Amino acid sequence: MIPFGDPSASYQAHKSEIDQAIKQVLDSGWYVLGREVDAFEEEFASFHGMDFHAVGVANGTDAIALCLRGLGLGTGDEVITPSHTAVATVAGIEQAGCTPVFADIDPNTRCISPKSIEERVGTNTRAVMPVHIYGQPAKMPSILQIAQAYNLAVVEDCSQAHGAEIDGQKVGTFADISAYSCYPTKNLGGTGDGGVILCRSKNFAEKIKSLRQYGWNEERESIIPGFNSRLDELQAAILRVKLQHLADDNDKRRAIALRYNEGFKELPITLPALAETELHAMHLYVIECDRRNELMEYLRSQQIGASLHYPMAVHQHTAYKNRIHGSENLSVTEQFYERNLTLPMYPELSDDPVEHIISTVQNWFREKN
Ligand SMILES: Cc1ncc(COP(=O)(O)O)c(C=O)c1O
Repeated sequence: MIPFGDPSASYQAHKSEIDQAIKQVLDSGWYVLGREVDAFEEEFASFHGMDFHAVGVANGTDAIALCLRGLGLGTGDEVITPSHTAVATVAGIEQAGCTPVFADIDPNTRCISPKSIEERVGTNTRAVMPVHIYGQPAKMPSILQIAQAYNLAVVEDCSQAHGAEIDGQKVGTFADISAYSCYPTKNLGGTGDGGVILCRSKNFAEKIKSLRQYGWNEERESIIPGFNSRLDELQAAILRVKLQHLADDNDKRRAIALRYNEGFKELPITLPALAETELHAMHLYVIECDRRNELMEYLRSQQIGASLHYPMAVHQHTAYKNRIHGSENLSVTEQFYERNLTLPMYPELSDDPVEHIISTVQNWFREKN
């Protein structure tokens, strides 16, 4: 079976560097929040530019919660976000004690629609959390304009878009604060859980560093109620290796996406938009078509790991059904979920499987339609 993603291929591709990094950590005898975390934070921040600070945390969901807690948001504060995202985005918002409000998506980017954000702004709205879904940058300039008009904080969820750009500017640097997951399947993924927060303000970074460890100051006195959300040294050391290859890996993903798009261009499929002014991080390659379930079953019978991201939108899950404001008006999101289909995408996916996937999809349309 060709999987839709393959973290083990990423390990094999950078094995000697990763093995050496792991050995160094094991030999060092220091395993949580140490030199590797410090170095990863510095390198991740400078990957985004001179003016940034980064803080490593335990996972992406915590990163989202800590961003909101760092802003001083909590009970009663509403955060507008798409329902078309990983459940984790919404779990992080609720973990911070905030109230998620769902906005619809734009059919071209599949990211949050700026118009829908504006329709949802109310007296309790405090923040907007766009998600760069599948690696596609959200419409940040419009989102920032709306946020400014209504005095809202913006926190970018960049968990699927490490290294994506709009007009040469990396996502995560549009808002003042951004959250990333470094789960193994991500474009920048470790071999366990991990997350990182990027911000412009040194003071905000210091506050997050305190919050991630019981609200401690340097004397280990808890000055604010905090959490345990530490990044471990092994993950940081592995992420440092992976960060060096991120831009190159993203290029490989985009090259595969271009081949898919070319191979599918005559078919009745909606393809991911690859705008010339943007760098799509191509975390997932997701098409839209009629009879999606039939195509998915056929591809699986041909050993192609077609999948769904996601099987349902967040507002359709039992845990969130009928209780999140905005859920009643998500028609673009709901239509998308009838037609979405994820095809294999990872940097190490080689030419033969890519050609096999393209011809298998073409065959299905030729034979079954
Ligand atoms: C869009 C998005 N936000 C947040 C997260 C949360 O990340 P984690 O699984 O590291 O908690 C993920 C990862 O699953 C994600 O895809």
